[in-house]
Amino acid sequence: MSTDKTNQSWGGRFSEPVDAFVARFTASVEFDKRLYRHDIMGSIAHATMLEKAGVLTDAERDEIIANLKDIQSEIEAGTFEWRVDLEDVHMNIEARLTDRIGVTGKKLHTGRSRNDQVATDIRLWLRDEIDLILGEITRLQEGLLGLAEAEAGTIMPGFTHLQTAQPVTFGHHLLAWFEMLSRDYERLVDCRKRTNRMPLGSAALAGTTYPIQREITCELLGFEAISGNSLDGVSDRDFAIEFCAAASVAMMHLSRFSEELVLWTSAQFQFIDLPDRFCTGSSIMPQKKNPDVPELVRGKTGRVFGALAGLLVLMKGQPLAYNKDNQEDKEPLFDAADTLRDSLRAFADMVPAIKPRREIMREAALRGFSTATDLADYLVRKGLPFRDCHEIVGHAVKYGVQTGKDLAEMSLDELRQFSDQIDDDVFAVLTLEGSVNARDHIGGTAPNQVRTAVQRGRDLLASR
Ligand code: ARG
Repeated sequence: MSTDKTNQSWGGRFSEPVDAFVARFTASVEFDKRLYRHDIMGSIAHATMLEKAGVLTDAERDEIIANLKDIQSEIEAGTFEWRVDLEDVHMNIEARLTDRIGVTGKKLHTGRSRNDQVATDIRLWLRDEIDLILGEITRLQEGLLGLAEAEAGTIMPGFTHLQTAQPVTFGHHLLAWFEMLSRDYERLVDCRKRTNRMPLGSAALAGTTYPIQREITCELLGFEAISGNSLDGVSDRDFAIEFCAAASVAMMHLSRFSEELVLWTSAQFQFIDLPDRFCTGSSIMPQKKNPDVPELVRGKTGRVFGALAGLLVLMKGQPLAYNKDNQEDKEPLFDAADTLRDSLRAFADMVPAIKPRREIMREAALRGFSTATDLADYLVRKGLPFRDCHEIVGHAVKYGVQTGKDLAEMSLDELRQFSDQIDDDVFAVLTLEGSVNARDHIGGTAPNQVRTAVQRGRDLLASR
């Protein structure tokens, strides 16, 4: 990238060139050049509107638009020379336009400022990123539905405090992640509405003296609304903060999911296998197969939380309207969007490839007295108050710990030591199948509820 030329676009007022270090220090082109497509899209809409406002002739408008398209091709072909002395993506593209078409190129910036230009570009860019992220969420959710359907009847221990609590179906467990992702999707759809409002026309801060027609640019750029105050339009970045907040919640979910995959693939759990392509080995311990993808997603969560905190701090002390501080909005925002999208992509690829080890899950559910609550509920049905039942079952569990027997392994006589209300029919209740089948209501773990929930999930995805 060249740095040796003098910035021409605001040089009029200055009597010496900007210090070379200051030029590099204040430049943003290294990172904001990724906005080029949206910058050109905004400029094409602006030029179209300027012709309708009588500022450009149709010939000038056509020349500007054709050359902006050529510049986009140059950038995409890698032949465009980005210049740090031109500070940012906006001035690089404008300078190139003027190189190509001279004085007509200099007319493009009429009635606008880089302040409303950049605010528009980031919104256009983020709107597209949100759409890509929503697509990855849906893909991951499809994978979860497929796996949940296949594992609707697979029994595993459910945990609270990471201690065996009650049996659940693996399909039900997977659908918990589906629900979280549905809310993440909703949050991003909601954030998109406030992102998709157009600041273009705010100019530097106060609006412009030209007869601009903001309805035209709004329509051309597909914005849902026009920002109602020029000072607010150029200065606030709340939509970016909101995005990072929604992205942080989504990453928090993926991080918890990651933690479970790490636990489940460990030698201590062995609930699932991840295909080798999502894992790596150790350079020293030949037996190792590490769940790198989930570990890395868990680790990357911190970057997105950092972006949220960074943007909040960036904005909190700024007076109206635009301040150069705002240039610092881009790197955290870009990084948060990239990190979330990549993490979702990795999960969407990985989830359908999860191989459950059904026998091991079942064995684990048989240990740890996971049907103790079912025994208590059974005694309630026989007419005892729940607190008494809780105590009775507590004694039975204590006996089980001492004798090394699970509840279902005790004889009827052994169980009757704790309550004479216990009869032969208790054994149906103490099985894993009996336990999960009994939780047969909306949101419960019974296999047929899991199948119904999968259908609900499919309907939801089809409605998007
Ligand atoms: N590169 C700047 C940014 O990212 C563009 C706006 C600059 N405006 C200005 N008046 N210096 O925010």
